[in-house]
Amino acid sequence: MANVVVVGSQWGDEGKGKIVDWLSERADVVVRYQGGHNAGHTLVIDGVSYKLSLLPSGLVRGKFSVIGNGVVVDPHHFVAEIAKIAAQGISVTPDVLRIAENAPLILSLHRELDALREDSNSGLKIGTTRRGIGPAYEDKVGRRAIRVCDLGEPETLMDKIERLLTHHNALRRGMGAAEVEAQVIHDELMAVADQILPFMDRVWELLDERRKRGERILFEGAQGALLDNDHGTYPFVTSSNTVAGQAAPGSGLGPTAVDYVLGITKAYTTRVGEGPFPTEQDNETGQFLGERGHEFGTVTGRKRRCGWFDAVIVKQTVRTSGIHGIALTKLDVLDGLDEIKVCVGYELDGERIDHLPASMGAQSRVKPIYETLEGWKETTAGARSWAELPAQAIKYVRRVEELIGATVALLSTSPEREDTILVQDPFQD
Ligand code: GDP
Ligand code: IMO
Ligand code: MG
Repeated sequence: MANVVVVGSQWGDEGKGKIVDWLSERADVVVRYQGGHNAGHTLVIDGVSYKLSLLPSGLVRGKFSVIGNGVVVDPHHFVAEIAKIAAQGISVTPDVLRIAENAPLILSLHRELDALREDSNSGLKIGTTRRGIGPAYEDKVGRRAIRVCDLGEPETLMDKIERLLTHHNALRRGMGAAEVEAQVIHDELMAVADQILPFMDRVWELLDERRKRGERILFEGAQGALLDNDHGTYPFVTSSNTVAGQAAPGSGLGPTAVDYVLGITKAYTTRVGEGPFPTEQDNETGQFLGERGHEFGTVTGRKRRCGWFDAVIVKQTVRTSGIHGIALTKLDVLDGLDEIKVCVGYELDGERIDHLPASMGAQSRVKPIYETLEGWKETTAGARSWAELPAQAIKYVRRVEELIGATVALLSTSPEREDTILVQDPFQD
């Protein structure tokens, strides 16, 4: 019996959705514990694709799922996403989904502030998803957020909104934006309250009880460790902790609830939005990876930046997230390349280093040191057993394991659910 955390080990879009869906067959509960609808998790089952942003990926298998308190919830998006997957035949009712009563809400003013900041000439452009994630987390930490449970107390909701607006309207005046009236926010929330409240629950207690009954919990991370607010490429990060440790406070369980950490790792590297990316290939190689890997953002449709595998950052994530094993995804995208490069260290101001430095300046100056491996001409796409892999592909996998200090537990060879090779079951560790 084990509870497993799935965490992105690069800059997001590593294939977490596919792996969570695959693993959820073995789990009893699937929990989202951070982020919001900035995430875009794609699952492909028998050629049909499902795109989830806020809802846990376990729902596609009908697994009992939870949106933990560490998630920021846009209530209108919540309702819309449920409708969207209902149209694909997946029914989401309170029988299969609960939301933490203490989860903070994303309001229209958060979305507007996100966009105002991104569009301002004086600000630092992060290239956010413009979904209000950062501003909503700021209000949570600032102790003025409206939370799910507040929807159930309409008599005091107006006071809370007014208190929130003393902050936001001052900010908006300073940015030259129109002030917001409390009634507008009140109406916006009341329009969806009845559709959210049936899902509300004391999630910390529910999860603890299920855990004690011996149920297996699968924690579904969003984004990736390099987008972590503390450990990522700050300030080009998201506004939550994305490292595996967040699974506990983001769901209301203690750290001892986690038994195994699975790092989802793409066989090359991608990033959406601004910020340092040492192994980026703004050339034919990047174009090849982008086209082969269909590297377009699920949420914003933006083209993802592509580059070689960076063992330095993944090795760092193995340490900052306490990764036991990895799920290596998109190996098939490398099929047909004559040679494949892997970053094994950085050069910073004439010195060799083996970590990503913390400062923004140093991060932008590091130069990758590459090792070149021989590619393979055979196809790995759709392989379902280790024996189907060409020798050079196995060599590549083994070298990645050596460089990052973690072994491959799962290998993914296409977007399809079943094109997955199990090497070591995280739930049986
Ligand atoms: P997530 O945010 O980590 O869930 O990843 P995304 O869903 O945003 O992006 C990963 C993309 O790669 C999705 O379109 C998946 O369907 C696809 N994908 C996942 N695993 C594989 C794989 O092994 N091979 C290929 N070719 N595509 C994959
Ligand atoms: P999944 O779960 C890739 C990036 C944005 C931007 C930065 C901050 O699908 O892996 P935000 O809107 O969060 O304030 O944007 O973080 N970003 C992601 N990049 N995958 C994601 O999620 C991301 N979620 C946010 O592009 O650079
Ligand atoms: Mg994604």
